Amino acid sequence: MCCLQFCCLILIGLFALEIYASSGTVFYESFDESFEESWIVSEKEDYLGVWNHSKSEGHEDFGLLVSEKARKYAIVKELDTPVELNDGMVVLQFETRLQNGLECGGAYLKYLRPQESGWTPKAFDNKSPYSIMFGPDKCGATNKVHFIINHMNPKTGKYIEHHLNSPIVVPSDKMSHVYTAILKPDNELSILIDGAEKKKANFMSSEDFSPSLIPPKTIPDPDDKKPEDWDEVQTIPDPDAKKPEDWDEDVPMEILDEEAEKPDGWLDDEPEEVDDPDAMKPEDWDDEEDGEWEAPKIDNPRCETAPGCGEWKRPTKKNPDYKGKWYAPLIDNPNYMGIWQPREIPNADYFELDKPNLEPVAAIGIEIWTMQDGILFDNILISSDEKSAESIRDATWKPKFLVEMEKQRVEEQAANLDGLKGIQKVVFDVLYKIADLPILGDHKMKVMELIEEAEKKPTIIVGIIISLAVVIVSPLLKILLSIKKKPVKANVAPKKDGGKTSTTEVGEDAVKLTGQKKLTDSLHYVRNHDSSVSHYTPWITISCQAYSSLSSGCPFSCHNSPLLDDIVFIVH
Ligand SMILES: *[C@@H]1O[C@H](CO)[C@@H](O)[C@H](O)[C@H]1NC(C)=O
Repeated sequence: MCCLQFCCLILIGLFALEIYASSGTVFYESFDESFEESWIVSEKEDYLGVWNHSKSEGHEDFGLLVSEKARKYAIVKELDTPVELNDGMVVLQFETRLQNGLECGGAYLKYLRPQESGWTPKAFDNKSPYSIMFGPDKCGATNKVHFIINHMNPKTGKYIEHHLNSPIVVPSDKMSHVYTAILKPDNELSILIDGAEKKKANFMSSEDFSPSLIPPKTIPDPDDKKPEDWDEVQTIPDPDAKKPEDWDEDVPMEILDEEAEKPDGWLDDEPEEVDDPDAMKPEDWDDEEDGEWEAPKIDNPRCETAPGCGEWKRPTKKNPDYKGKWYAPLIDNPNYMGIWQPREIPNADYFELDKPNLEPVAAIGIEIWTMQDGILFDNILISSDEKSAESIRDATWKPKFLVEMEKQRVEEQAANLDGLKGIQKVVFDVLYKIADLPILGDHKMKVMELIEEAEKKPTIIVGIIISLAVVIVSPLLKILLSIKKKPVKANVAPKKDGGKTSTTEVGEDAVKLTGQKKLTDSLHYVRNHDSSVSHYTPWITISCQAYSSLSSGCPFSCHNSPLLDDIVFIVH
C-alpha cells in the first residue's frame, strides 16, 4: 500500500515535471494555484468583471473563471522573457470551456506586444497592442475562432490587422475544448481544435488573410476622376426608329364583351340587399333622439338561388387591338465607352516580404466583453514543440473531455427516459380522468386499483391499459347497445380543473345499432361538440394500439382511431 502510494507520487511528480520541463515549453499556466499572485487584473474603468479561481464543473481541476454575465473582463500575465514569433516553430495552446454556452461574447486570448509599444498591465484594455489574437468569438451572426495577426508595414510603420479568412466555427457545446495554433517556420499556420486540424493556411497567401500581408503592387489612383463626357450607357433607343402608321396608342386595354349574355333567371327588379325581416325596433328606441329606426340590411335571400340581382351589366374583356404606348427599340450605344475605372498607380505602401515579421509576445492577456458567465480558461501553453503540446493536451484536456462525453451520453439516455416518463404522466392523467367517468359505476374502484398498480410498476403499463380498456369498454358497450331514445344528450365527466360539463350529442342512427361490428359504424354519428374534451384522445389511441398488439384483436375495429375518439364520451 505504502509502496503503491509512493509509486503514484513518483508518477504524478514525473508527470508534472514533464509539463514544466517538457522540451519546448516556454510558458505554461495550469491555474492549479490561485492566479492572484501572478496575473494582473486590469484596473481600467469599465472592466468590472470579476475573475475567479474555480473548478471546472464536474472536475477537480481549477481554471480561470468569468464569474458574471454582461461585463467586460481584462487580465494579463507578463512572461518572464518575451517569446520570439519569427524564429522556428511556435505553438499557442489553451483550453476554454463555455460552461453556460455562448450567445454573445469572446473567449479568446491576446498575445501582447512588449509594453514599450504603449500599454501597462493595470491599464490593459481593448487598445493594448497585440501580435496575435486567437480563440472563439460569437455574437449574433458572428461565430468564429479568430486568428488575427497585427503586422507592421515596414514602409509606413503602421500596424495592420490581418484576419484569417473563412475561420472555423466555435463548438456549440458546454464541454472543455482545447485550441491550438501552430506557426511553422515555412509560413504555414495550422489551427487545431481538440487536437484535430481544422484549418491550414499560409501567412504569405493573399487568399488566406484579409487583407493580405503583402499589400497590392498597384492601387486605383484616388485622384483620377471620371471625365464628364464619359458615356457608360450601354444601350439607347434607336433614334431612326419610327412609330408605325397603324400603331394607335389610344386603343383601350379593355372593351365590353359584346358576346356576353344576361344569364337566365337574372332578377332585374330585386335589390341585392333587403331589410332584415326578423329585426325589431328596440323597445328603448326614441325616434326623436335616435332618429327614425331602420331595419339592418341583409343579403337578399332571393338572390342566393338566382344568378344575379339588380341591373345586369355587360362584362368587359381584354381588347385584342390594344397596343399601348409605342417605344423605340433599344440598340447598342455607338458612343459607349465601357464602365469607367480609375487608372492604377504604384502602391506607395507596397513592400516585399518572405515571411511574417511579428513583434515578440511579452504577455498573455484575456480582454473580452461577454454576455455569458461560466467561461473557464485553463492550461495556457506556449511551446516550441508540436509533440510536447500534444502530450500536454492529452494529459490535461483529454481526461476531462472523456468524462464530459460520458456524462453527456448518460444524460442523453436519461433525457430519453425522461421523455418516456413525460408520456407516462400524460397517460396516467388521462387514465385518472377516465376512471372518474360516471359510466364506470361499480367498476370505478377496480379501475383505480389497476391504475395505481400501473403507476407503481411502469413496466407493466401496456398490460394494465389492456385490462383497463376491457373493464371500461364493457359498460360502454352495454350502454351503447341499450340506447333506445334519440337524440341522446350525454354528460361528459367534468374536467379536473372546474365544474364545467361538456355535452356530446349522439346522432340519430346510433340508436338502431346492435352488435359489436356495427358499433364502429355508429361512431360516425357521435359528434363531439366541445373541443375541450379532446384530451381524452391519447387514451383511446393507446388502448387501441394495445389491442392491435394482441393477435386476438380488438372487440371493435381499431383501424379507425380518429373516430374512436368519441366513443368514450357517450355517457348518460
Ligand atoms: C467569485 O468569487 C467571489 C468572491 O470570492 C464570490 O463571491 C462569487 O460567488 C464567485 N462567483 C462564482 C461564480 O464562483
